Parts: sequence; structure tokens; C-alpha cells
Amino acid sequence: MTATMPQPEPIHFELSETALRARRNAKWNQYEPGVLPAFVADMDFAVAAPIQLAIEKIVHAGDYGYPMRDGQKPDRSVSIAFSARMKSRYGWELSPDLVLPLADLVQGTYAPILAFSDPGDGIVLQVPNYPPFRDAITTTERRLLPLAMRDNGSRHVVDMDELEKLVDARTRIFILCNPQNPTGRVFTRDELTALSHFAEAHDLIVISDEIHSDLVYPGHEHIPFASLSAEAAARTITLNSATKSFNIPGLRCAVIAFGNAALRERFHKRIPLRLTGSANVVGADATIAAWTEGQPWLDAVLAHLLKARNRVTEVLSKEAPQIRFHAPEATYLTWLDCSRLELSASAFQYFLNAAKIGFSAGETFDPACPQFVRFNFATSMPILDEMLDRFVTATRRNAR
Ligand SMILES: Cc1ncc(COP(=O)(O)O)c(C=O)c1O
Repeated sequence: MTATMPQPEPIHFELSETALRARRNAKWNQYEPGVLPAFVADMDFAVAAPIQLAIEKIVHAGDYGYPMRDGQKPDRSVSIAFSARMKSRYGWELSPDLVLPLADLVQGTYAPILAFSDPGDGIVLQVPNYPPFRDAITTTERRLLPLAMRDNGSRHVVDMDELEKLVDARTRIFILCNPQNPTGRVFTRDELTALSHFAEAHDLIVISDEIHSDLVYPGHEHIPFASLSAEAAARTITLNSATKSFNIPGLRCAVIAFGNAALRERFHKRIPLRLTGSANVVGADATIAAWTEGQPWLDAVLAHLLKARNRVTEVLSKEAPQIRFHAPEATYLTWLDCSRLELSASAFQYFLNAAKIGFSAGETFDPACPQFVRFNFATSMPILDEMLDRFVTATRRNAR
């Protein structure tokens, strides 16, 4: 007799449109009912059970005092959980002492900009890119040096020749977003190594936002920039959190990781520890649960996202050939070039009116891209199919 292995319970996370519309989140409340939202980077999925349990434990006990976890502050537990995850997933040896928890990653972008540059200094940003990066550069009166992601016909790549032309003696920082939002690129080791040599040659600090690193599709590999070499680490501030991959952005918990202690000390000369605050205990416990117990949920979600990405790719290639795009290598976002539709309004506005889909407007990622939209496809298959139907119909209405 052969013993049968117990099968793990299937993980259900897809939610109906009715359940989603009952939520009090930005995604489902921004537009009138009738519009399907595909903008902000939130997934339409139920959260992982270990995260929910971690939160319920706090709520059921009404345990809202200054917290302690395993004899230490929860911040320390977040740092330990992050270092352990980096080691097990990427072989990146990162001391928890170099990990600073804080509330969110946009804060984590502003702080190193203030610490490592001065007004008037240049900061390189690949464009298109996540809109708050632009604001972080311009509102702090630094100079934004835009480096276009070059479309080589099969993907968007780093243009090292353009980069060389862009920097000047007052360029201090390169903001890297890897995996890249909105193109979904996962930069290869060769690309990252070239960037690291460039940063060394020009003495640049690299702010590496790796928030989408858990959401990589088969055939691609995430490499933390700071794990490339000790030289790369010495100039790298890594930003990460569980908010995108585990769908908990409302809980506000993120980390900054310094490549070495000297970098951390330089940072704190300008940004005192107290100024970055710390994570809320609910966010901290949820993040620790995500990073230590959430992988089965994430694996199930990734299998769904891969199916969704392939469905988007197949339908758009067949049914909307005017739309140019590359299937993302990571993230649940895809960057659609609608310029062949020759729309008179921005593509965002056109599809909001004609298809009742609320995409993210291309011009917010790069002012030169009003004919682009970013499509968030992290939803259930019936909603995704409805969006694709509406989208294809609206592109045909406009087809020349
Ligand atoms: C590249 C990138 N960085 C940072 C963030 C902000 O994340 P959070 O609000 O969880 O700090 C996002 C959110 O979409 C993002 O895509």
C-alpha cells in the first residue's frame, strides 16, 4: 500500500467585484461605479492568512501599548526578518544592524536624497518611472536628470551611452527601480554591473528601490544591487517592503538597508534616527508574518499573476495589434504604448471615457508619455476578462 501525502489546502484569494466595491480602499472608491480600476499598485486579493492572524492577535487583545517582541522593539524583529529573507532568497549577507524600518518607501526615497545631496545637485532617474521619485527630486530642489529607458524592440534597456552624456560634476545620486515600475523590467547582472561600475567611476550613491522584487516571473532573476559586490554595497541604499507583494500598503511598514556601516553613519549625520520614525506595530507584525510565513500565499498569487500576464499578452497581441508593449518580466503592471491610436486626448482620458477603465496616466510617469497608460492586471480572471473586452472594443472604435 502506498501512503498518500496530505495535500496542502488550496489558497483562495480572488475576490468578487461586489466584495471589492464594499472595501474602503482608494482603488475601488476613486471612480464612479461602472469604472473598473486598474491604476494604483494594489492587488484585488484577500490577504495571506498568517498576516490576518498576526493582526487579529493584536486587535483581539486590544494590545496597543509601546510594543515589545522577543525582548526587543518590533523594528528590530522587522530588520532580522528582512536580513533573513535576503539571505535565503538571494544569498545576500546583510546585517540586521544595517536595516532601518520606517513607515513607507516614499519617505525612504526622500531621506537619502536629503542625506547625500544638496539643492542644485543632479539626480539621475530612469524615465518613465514611479511618479513620487520625480517629486522627491524636484520638491527638494535637486536637478532631475532623466535617462530614457530605451526600447530596443524586445524590451526596455539601460542606455549607458546616454547615461554617460547625462552626468556632470554635480551629479550625486542614481535612482534605480528594479524591478522597474512601470516597464516591468528585471535588470540582468550585466546591466547592474555596468551601472555599478558607472556609479563607482562617478562617485554616485545608488538608491535602489526593490519593492517589486518578489514579483518576478519565471526566466528572470532578481539581483539586489547591493549584493553585486562590496564596492556596490558601499554606495547603495536599498529600499524594500512587503507592501506590494503581500498587498498590505495600508499598513505602512518598509525598510531602508545601508550597504555598510559607514554609509549608515553618513546618512545619520543629516537624518537623525528619530526623524525617520518607525513602523506601526500592526504593520511590523504583518510584515514579519509576510516575510516569514507568507510564501505559500505568494507562490499561489504569483501563479495567478503569471496566468493573468499571459492572458493580457495574448489578448492584446491578437485583438489590439496597434498597442505596443512588452510582457513584463516582473510586477503586475504593464506599460501600454497607445500612440498608434493617434488619440486627441491622453490615452488615460480616452480609456476612462470610452472603456470605463481607470488606468494610471502615462504622463504621470513621464510628461512625454500622455499616449501611454499603465495597466494593473492584479485582479480576478472574470474582472480581467471584462477589462480586456472593454479595452479591445475601445481600441477598435478608434482603429484607423
Ligand atoms: C517603485 C515603488 N516604490 C515605492 C512605492 C511605494 O510603496 P509604499 O506606499 O508601500 O511605501 C511603490 C508603490 O506602488 C512603488 O511602485
